[in-house]
Amino acid sequence: MSGLFVTFEGGDGVGKTTQATALEEWLQASGRSVVRTREPGGTEVGVLLRDIVLHHRGEVAPRAEALLYAADRAQHIATVVRPALARGDVVIQDRYLDSSVAYQGAGREIDPGQIRDLSLWAADGLLPDVTVLLDLDHAAARRRLDADDKPFDRLESERSDFHDRVRQAFLDLAAAESERFLVVDASLPAEDIAQTIRSRVATALAAGVGEPG
Ligand code: TYD
Repeated sequence: MSGLFVTFEGGDGVGKTTQATALEEWLQASGRSVVRTREPGGTEVGVLLRDIVLHHRGEVAPRAEALLYAADRAQHIATVVRPALARGDVVIQDRYLDSSVAYQGAGREIDPGQIRDLSLWAADGLLPDVTVLLDLDHAAARRRLDADDKPFDRLESERSDFHDRVRQAFLDLAAAESERFLVVDASLPAEDIAQTIRSRVATALAAGVGEPG
């Protein structure tokens, strides 16, 4: 196993997609093979699960929600991410297990340790080499989402104290695993953020993580 596994985390509207795209383009320009993917919804089964967790308008019990994300993760890691890493590709992924710990653990008030263990079981222990946390105050993120005029999303429409807990949970996760995480102030200009991320990923690649073959 020799690819590089990079995940992007943070609340809704912090600019994960923009930054993941910038990193993907930079890596491809330097000749790397890149797989760009996301959770929930990175596989055919995952697209079905994503529709339930994000768009079902009736009640979804907190443990059911946690298991739906874990099921999506299990399918995605086994059929997309591990094969790509085995080929030596760089995997750039929007959201991974830290999102479950932050949203289902802190947000929904299930024990975060249990959520993490569930995710690790689902992914058979796979952790990212680098996790970029784009940190932004919820009010600023909300303004970006409103400007984008996106369709109804069950989790995005939660109250702002929910999002404050999620933000704090991400920061706590980053503090607990400071070697894996790169925390970036998402209110900075996009190009400055992209540069910070590139240099961190370049360091990981130079350190021999992600050598093909
Ligand atoms: P995302 O795909 O980033 O949404 P969008 O494409 O609409 O910007 O994430 C969808 C939502 O799922 C987001 O509100 C966070 C939530 N989520 C969890 O609650 N737990 C998880 O494990 C994951 C991966 C996402």
